Amino acid sequence: MKIDILSLFPDMFSGPLHQSIVGKAIEDQLLDIQVTNFRDFSSNKHHNVDDYPYGGGAGMLLQPQPIFDAMAAIQNDNAKLPKGRVIILDPGGKQFDQEMAETFAHESHLTFICGHYEGYDERIKTLATDEVSLGDYVLTGGELAAMVMIDATVRLLPGVLGNKESAPGDSFSTGLLEYPQYSRPAVFRGMQVPEVLLNGNHQLIDQWRRKQALKRTLLKRPDLLNKMTLSKIDLELLDDIKADLND
Ligand code: ADE
Repeated sequence: MKIDILSLFPDMFSGPLHQSIVGKAIEDQLLDIQVTNFRDFSSNKHHNVDDYPYGGGAGMLLQPQPIFDAMAAIQNDNAKLPKGRVIILDPGGKQFDQEMAETFAHESHLTFICGHYEGYDERIKTLATDEVSLGDYVLTGGELAAMVMIDATVRLLPGVLGNKESAPGDSFSTGLLEYPQYSRPAVFRGMQVPEVLLNGNHQLIDQWRRKQALKRTLLKRPDLLNKMTLSKIDLELLDDIKADLND
């Protein structure tokens, strides 16, 4: 996968994207990340990239020219790749989630446009296929949001996670929160690992895990259950869970 990032603060990316699993994906050539400072494309003699909003109001807006020209250069450099998705980071965009990470992971080329200041001249948004927000809060810029989205996307690429860290059972990938897990020792400070996990009966273990995932989701994120199509067995397990909770 090729990822282009347009940002006024390229150095912000050098730490987080070159460590751990994302760093290893770059080393293994599963991923190529290019950060472009769109200030370098400003045609203004002072290299300004922002200006006051027409009609007045607080703050400055990013102007279209530097970002349009930076995008043209990126598309020229990547002429052999599909244009892919162009994601503009904006607190007013659609909220990022696991499903979006999965969609992004199917692309061969992603471009993230990171804003700063009060926002974008609206015409910049015509460059984007997606306007995406990390959540309902305002960051100082899109960089941290882009890093989170890149991290969540890259770990889904084939070959990026080894078996040890595998992704398909993750919270959200199954639609449910993850079931509780335990490692050695079987008893730690009086806290026991559930007996069912120690007896090697994989059918019982799978059933226990499914029930625990349903229970955890019911208690912590009932909204996720409403989005899922539950099997007959899941519905029976949920009835059991609710009955246990009412005892
Ligand atoms: N820029 C500022 N706040 C943001 C947010 N919540 N998500 C994405 N980009 C942003």
